[in-house]
Amino acid sequence: MRVNGKPYRTIWVNSDDEKIIQVIDQRYLPHKFVIEDLSSLSGAVTAIKDMHVRGAGLIGATAAYGMYLAAMEAPEDGSFDNFMEKAGERLKSSRPTAVNLSWAVDRQLTAIEDGTSAGDKILIALKSAGEIADMDAENCRRIGEHGFEIISEISRRKNGKTVNILTHCNAGWLAFVDFGTATAPIYAAFDKGIDLHVWVDETRPRNQGASLTAWELENQGVPYTIISDNAGGHLMQHGMVDMVLVGSDRTTVTGDVANKTGTYLKALAALDNRVPFYVALPSSTFDWELEDGINGIPIEERGADEVRYIEGLCEGEIKRVLLTPENSRAANYAFDVTPARLVTRLITEKGICRPDRKSILEMFPENKR
Ligand code: MRU
Repeated sequence: MRVNGKPYRTIWVNSDDEKIIQVIDQRYLPHKFVIEDLSSLSGAVTAIKDMHVRGAGLIGATAAYGMYLAAMEAPEDGSFDNFMEKAGERLKSSRPTAVNLSWAVDRQLTAIEDGTSAGDKILIALKSAGEIADMDAENCRRIGEHGFEIISEISRRKNGKTVNILTHCNAGWLAFVDFGTATAPIYAAFDKGIDLHVWVDETRPRNQGASLTAWELENQGVPYTIISDNAGGHLMQHGMVDMVLVGSDRTTVTGDVANKTGTYLKALAALDNRVPFYVALPSSTFDWELEDGINGIPIEERGADEVRYIEGLCEGEIKRVLLTPENSRAANYAFDVTPARLVTRLITEKGICRPDRKSILEMFPENKR
């Protein structure tokens, strides 16, 4: 996607030095556009853990490049593979909910098995990370094509009147390598001239909606309005939302969807108001082993200060201010699970399917166990 007219992905290899991976440091958006160099396994782990990069697809791509950086640090003797296993464990434990992370690490471990020397394995890890990033971008582009059909059908039904889409958190291109999942159909529909408008949940506590989704939509010229997280139910009751469209960090083979905390409440409000609730995700976000999302998906608990403080621009500087009484305790459950029964359809790179085991496995038969 474009930033000030220049095309960017969220992660790439430095064109002057392929030992350096570059990412957009999302902690500074929307106020500053900062590019960070990652040159070590530790750098990649910190970037994921401290959310310089975030979002399921981008976490996966960063982990893939993290494995490449680890390969360059690995001893060239017989302990190379053992070092890489441990590097994979470090990356996997950096954030627990998005399954793309372990998917990408395992893919890298399998890929380097084919290498016959350390040098060979480093080259394989670089190539394979590039393939993972390219696949992520291409899958998102295809999700856009499939999701476009849904938006265009709603537009037809409304005789071309504005289609109002509500989204939560940032499942945009910043959360992936390019295009995004929930935003890809929006960009596709907007580019084809469909009249649409996006309600952007601010998404406390880290405000990925207000900071990141809003910044993306602004850059693309898509009309949007930021709302407080709790306003969605009111809008739905008053016919101001035609569809809810969100992403996912992990979806079970039975169709339960883990996504940014607050998604479940939107799904409940959507059901009560007969607003269709769509989830857009690439196949790398399915957990093919898991049946029960509510009891099986690990929910990340982050630091209390993300709830107690809020960050923003003050007289040209990014500052953090305390919102709560000084000694308040706070809990920070970063994700929740929306049960499959509340999800209208899943939008994947292969097409649209019902959120149930049969339909999901019909679409992805290679994952039948
Ligand atoms: O904590 P984050 O910002 O990494 O959360 C991930 C998300 O952006 C969302 O949950 C998103 O809606 C899912 S798509 C990556």
